[in-house]
Amino acid sequence: EIPQMEKIVSLAKRRGFVFQSSEIYGGINGFWDYGPLGAELKRNLRDTWWRTMTRDREDVVGLDATIIMHPAIWKASGHVDTFADLMRECSVTNKRVRADHVEPQSGVVMQFSGFSITGGSSHNDSITVLMRGGEHIESFRKRVRQLVAQARNQTAENIELHGESKIDAVEGSVDFHPETGGALGEARPFNLMLKTYVGPTATENDIAYLRPETAQAIFAQFKNVVDSSRQRVPFGICQIGKAFRNEVTPRNFTFRSREFEQMELEFFIKPDEAIEAVCGSVAAWSEGADLSVPQDNWGWEMWHRYWVKERTDYYAGIGLGADVLDYHWQTKEELAHYARACVDILFKFPFGTEELEGLAARGDFDLMAHQTASRKPMDVFDEEVKNAFAKWTDEQRAALVERKKAEHRAKEKGGLTDAQVDEWCQKLFKGFYVPHVIEPSAGLDRLALAVLSNAYSEVEKTDAKGKSETLYVMRLHPRLAPVKVGVFPLLKNKPELVAKAREVFELLRKHFSAFYDEGGSIGKRYARQDEAGTPFCLTIDFETLGEKGEELKDTVTLRHRDDGSKERVKISELLGKLLPMVG
Ligand code: GAP
Repeated sequence: EIPQMEKIVSLAKRRGFVFQSSEIYGGINGFWDYGPLGAELKRNLRDTWWRTMTRDREDVVGLDATIIMHPAIWKASGHVDTFADLMRECSVTNKRVRADHVEPQSGVVMQFSGFSITGGSSHNDSITVLMRGGEHIESFRKRVRQLVAQARNQTAENIELHGESKIDAVEGSVDFHPETGGALGEARPFNLMLKTYVGPTATENDIAYLRPETAQAIFAQFKNVVDSSRQRVPFGICQIGKAFRNEVTPRNFTFRSREFEQMELEFFIKPDEAIEAVCGSVAAWSEGADLSVPQDNWGWEMWHRYWVKERTDYYAGIGLGADVLDYHWQTKEELAHYARACVDILFKFPFGTEELEGLAARGDFDLMAHQTASRKPMDVFDEEVKNAFAKWTDEQRAALVERKKAEHRAKEKGGLTDAQVDEWCQKLFKGFYVPHVIEPSAGLDRLALAVLSNAYSEVEKTDAKGKSETLYVMRLHPRLAPVKVGVFPLLKNKPELVAKAREVFELLRKHFSAFYDEGGSIGKRYARQDEAGTPFCLTIDFETLGEKGEELKDTVTLRHRDDGSKERVKISELLGKLLPMVG
């Protein structure tokens, strides 16, 4: 039985959803290209996200920033110093893997793709072993032991693993060196940012980074957006764009790539103290409060939960419902030092339940970091906050200052000095503050993979002669489907049918992507569209031409992909029927 992931990879290539980048030269690990259907699917996903996150809302605006930015941004954000994975390197083959993917005792790589196996490697005395999706660690170890024993008696350059299929999209492999039992060196940090040079001299001073996330441009342009958009806190800035990470072990098809696209929102909110001043009480938005509290009063926990709900609704709207999602609320130990809370929205991929999107409450970490490094103020003024504090007594204010000092002294990292807290509080009392941030951050490629995995289904069909075959149906949500409707003349050698079908095709393609196909039997044409995920197909037949009576003239057969049901629809009513479903 071929693992499901392998079948999805194969269909994705066969139908032009995803190709390996640079395939004609053997591919490049961690990079993927989207073919004609994949490009449309991604565009549709981008559109649904953009529409939901900004066009449909009055409190979010968009940004489209550059991939290469001033290197000082990545210094201030902490990426230059800390954006690293622990890596181990095989001293024999120089291959690198993430340290948390290595089983400590044996040095064997343990966390792996759903792909079954790869054959030998190009190194004389090493073999490449992948753990199978869902394979138990003990049986993996047993398998590796058997393979190593085999390898020690082997003189041939490459070792083939028996009875397993070899596939070209193998990722995340490590060379297990039989003589030394792993030969993986000490774990050490490996910065994930990809570097390049800007300008002709290519010296150390010209180093620039390809952004590892889209978020930082939003922080860097925060003030410009505030000054130009008339938005006031609470509000958000969102961005879709490429991000690059030199992942040590890219794996699981497009799941962990080195070049990928992110869809991120930075939603700016008042700090707790400002809300406290305005509301008089934080109780209204503390744990357990309901989401019907007026939004102006919300503190970070409420906003955080609100965005988890919004994002969940978004996923449901594109066909990823509660049955395929899960949530992981990070524990205190798991949290990045700047995060107050973080919840991962997980999707049940064929290779396991893994992160699709992260929603972090980042406090004021980012804006503060850029304010400090750039010496440009990142604070905003709020009349309401100023007026609220004006009503506070001196004792109340002094108590707040003391509370903040104690909070910062207790911080292990990033705490302010007492003098800085004093300054911060004095500004706050005058109505100036650096906003806090809630960040829903999703990966577009990961989402495309989730959507493809979710859509994949197999249907057994038996023909009139009793011969059965497996058909593949991609049950993509109509909003996401690359092609919304297939248009077929019943027969290609009847000019009247072809002319009418072309007329219907021309009518529809002005409004959404349509595909005209006259080749092969109608059944074959349906099957092709099923694999492409096309939700509707139309057949123009003799009834359409009025040859079977006036009643059916100018009607077509509309066939629904998911249940194969068919209905007769007037051509004049097609748009009215299809547009609401695919738009
Ligand atoms: N600004 C926050 C941030 O970048 P992250 O958890 O590192 O957070 C957010 O990334 C999302 O970006 C992830 O949930 C995932 O969907 C996507 N992503 C991250 N690294 C990726 C990679 N190597 N390949 C594909 N998608 C990736």
